[in-house]
Amino acid sequence: MKQYEIPIRYTLYENPGELPGQYVSLVHSAVEAARDAYAPYSGFRVGAAVLLENGEVIAGNNQENAAYPSGLCAERVALFYAGSRYPGVAVAAIAITALRDGSIQEEPVTPCGACRQVLYETEQTGGKSIHVILHGKRRTLLIQGAADLLPLPFILKKET
Ligand code: THU
Repeated sequence: MKQYEIPIRYTLYENPGELPGQYVSLVHSAVEAARDAYAPYSGFRVGAAVLLENGEVIAGNNQENAAYPSGLCAERVALFYAGSRYPGVAVAAIAITALRDGSIQEEPVTPCGACRQVLYETEQTGGKSIHVILHGKRRTLLIQGAADLLPLPFILKKET
């Protein structure tokens, strides 16, 4: 029997202005996207802004539905739209934030498991680490790779 540990590393910014400049504006895009969320059931408006390797920024927000599971998280709206608009272009970074009653949440939103799985696969197919910026009013976290957010991910092994 052997035991293993999988450490997770992240950088904490108490002043988001200290983030690299392009991430400051990516966070801004995420906040703007969150304002346009369709979240009548939860009142929790999430915004995600994806920076692509070609410099394009694609933003998305959560889209809810009266049949609750039919809705989709902001991260997947943005990542899937980026994939459909720019197939084969790697994702460099994603900024995520959330608003309640028009104000940015104090603490960063941490993506749900399904979004982590999609981020993981997007990172694998892109072939380069995705910087994940989780923005809250009180602190902002920068994770250097999506794989850090999902230890032991699901991988569909091809039959040989
Ligand atoms: N939500 C996101 O958009 N991203 C997450 O990472 C977690 C949750 C949305 C789904 C739903 O519309 C609302 O937040 C409350 O769960």
